[in-house]
Amino acid sequence: MESRRLGPVVGLGTYRTFEDDERLATDVVGAALDAGCRVVDSSPMYGAAERSLAAALDGRRPDATVATKIWARSADEARAQLEAQLRWYGRIEVEQVHNLVGWREHLPLLEETRAEGRIDRIGVTHYDPSAFDELADALRSGRFDAVQLPLNPHERDCERLVLPLAGELGIPVIVMRPLGAGLLVRGEPAAGSLAPLAGFGVETWAQALLKWALSDERVDVVIPATSRPERTRENAAAGSPPWFGPEERALVERLAGA
Ligand SMILES: NC(=O)c1ccc[n+]([C@@H]2O[C@H](COP(=O)([O-])OP(=O)(O)OC[C@H]3O[C@@H](n4cnc5c(N)ncnc54)[C@H](OP(=O)(O)O)[C@@H]3O)[C@@H](O)[C@H]2O)c1
Repeated sequence: MESRRLGPVVGLGTYRTFEDDERLATDVVGAALDAGCRVVDSSPMYGAAERSLAAALDGRRPDATVATKIWARSADEARAQLEAQLRWYGRIEVEQVHNLVGWREHLPLLEETRAEGRIDRIGVTHYDPSAFDELADALRSGRFDAVQLPLNPHERDCERLVLPLAGELGIPVIVMRPLGAGLLVRGEPAAGSLAPLAGFGVETWAQALLKWALSDERVDVVIPATSRPERTRENAAAGSPPWFGPEERALVERLAGA
């Protein structure tokens, strides 16, 4: 199943970071690509972020793996979103059904577009553990090539069902909210507490959290969002081995107060 993998790698989320600010998007996305964050995740749900991302990728499209989403209540709306995305990005490496909305209805369009070679993989996402049974049903359908879910020391519900299932089926996992939507990085652990992680290339608390998720061998990509170009370099550095073992993961969980 190794050939199906997308990572392990640090990518870039785009929720509430640059929206319609194309200049900021160009700076953040450019810095992220320079740092090696290839996978860039967006959605029609994120205001003008998809359009800004397209502008930011001008001249750099081959460097990026675009993971975006269909978030549509009707087949017509889904088709309109897909057409706009194909205009913006040319092709889509990972097209995900956002929050499972209309997934059975939208799959034929996405499968047809994949057969035409304009989509590489079809994925599915959800952020809410109350939807994880349905997310598991979607994965068991055998029609998805990627899944996106939340995972950080405070949000581990996916470890019960969806993450083991994705591992078993060989479906690549993209982790949303690896920094707890920013909450986990508001406070820093005490000075010196990250010292045992120095040999793992970890210098900052954000890197410790990102490496914590990527060290689960079922996880392929973490997609931290940032509005600060320099942070993409810091975050990208968490995407290289050596990976944490159980002791280092337990330390990060303790430091996160989990
Ligand atoms: N499908 C879904 O249902 C769904 C739901 C939620 C998210 N997502 C996807 O997952 C992505 C990530 O989730 P998220 O954006 O909610 O949360 P997140 O990536 O866990 O956290 C983002 C926050 O972390 C801060 N941050 C980033 N790097 C940092 C660093 N090195 N040091 C300190 N702070 C740092 C950012 O602030 P600064 O801007 O100040 O750096 C931002 O406020 C989203 O952008 C989106 O693409 C999908």
